[in-house]
Amino acid sequence: MTTVTRAILERHSARAFLNKSIPLSIVREIIEIARHTASSSNMQPWRVTAMAGSDLEQLKAAVKQSLAANSAGEGSEYNIYAAHLKDPYNSRRLKCAEDMYATIGIGKENKLGRLMQFARNFDFYGAPVGMILSIDRAMEQGQWADTGMFLQSILLLAHERGLAACPQAAWAAMHKTVRAHLDLPPELIVFCGISLGYRDASQPINSLVTERASLEEIADLRGFALEELNRPAPVSP
Ligand SMILES: Cc1cc2nc3c(=O)[nH]c(=O)nc-3n(C[C@H](O)[C@H](O)[C@H](O)COP(=O)(O)O)c2cc1C
Repeated sequence: MTTVTRAILERHSARAFLNKSIPLSIVREIIEIARHTASSSNMQPWRVTAMAGSDLEQLKAAVKQSLAANSAGEGSEYNIYAAHLKDPYNSRRLKCAEDMYATIGIGKENKLGRLMQFARNFDFYGAPVGMILSIDRAMEQGQWADTGMFLQSILLLAHERGLAACPQAAWAAMHKTVRAHLDLPPELIVFCGISLGYRDASQPINSLVTERASLEEIADLRGFALEELNRPAPVSP
C-alpha cells in the first residue's frame, strides 16, 4: 500500500489522461473513504458530483456551448485569487504557469495557444471521470478549508489507486452552466472541478513537477533543542 508520505511526495496534477475508463467501484471507494476527512465540528460541508460517460460528455458540451457564446466565462461565485496578488504568491503563480507552458512549448507571446490550453480545463483534460466539488454558500472560511482537505483526500486516495487527478478552480467560472446542467441546488457554490483518470505519461504536460517553498520559508520551529534544529528533516517514503 502507498504510504501517506509517498502519496504526498509523488502526487502531481495530471493534465492529460489515457483513454481508459475507471470502474465505478473505484470512484465510489475514493469518495466513500474521503467522507472520513476531518472538518470543523464535523460539519462535512462538501458535496461532490462524479460523472463519467454520457453524463460527462453532456456537461462538457453544455460548457463548450456557453464558452462559444461568451469566451470570458460566467465569473465565479467566490474569489479564486486576490485581485492584486502580492509576492511571493504572485511570482509563484506566474512561475507555475510559465513552467507548465514551457513543457508544451507555448511561449508568452502565444496568447491563442495559452487560451486553447486553458480551455482544456473544460474538457476535464480528457479524463474519463470529472467531478464537481461544491460547498453550501452558508459556510464560512473555516468550512472552505475543510472542503480543501476533502479535496486533498480525493487526490491522495486517487494516487494510491494508481490514478491521477487535477483539481480545477477553472470550473467555478462556469458555475451557471454547471448548476443548470447538474440541477445543483441554489445553496451550493461550485468550488472546483476534478479531472480523474490514468496519467498519460507520454504527454509532455505531465512532466511538470512544481516547486515548493523551503521548510524555513513556511515554518517557524520554536522551543526545540538546538542540535535537533540543525539536523535536516528526514523525508523517507
Ligand atoms: C483548489 C485548486 C484549484 C486548482 N485549479 C486549477 C485549474 O483550474 N487548472 C489547472 O490546470 N490546475 C489547477 N490546479 C492545480 C495547481 O496548479 C497545482 O496543484 C499546483 O501547481 C501544484 O502542482 P501539483 O498539483 O502538481 O503538485 C488547482 C489546484 C488546487 C489545489
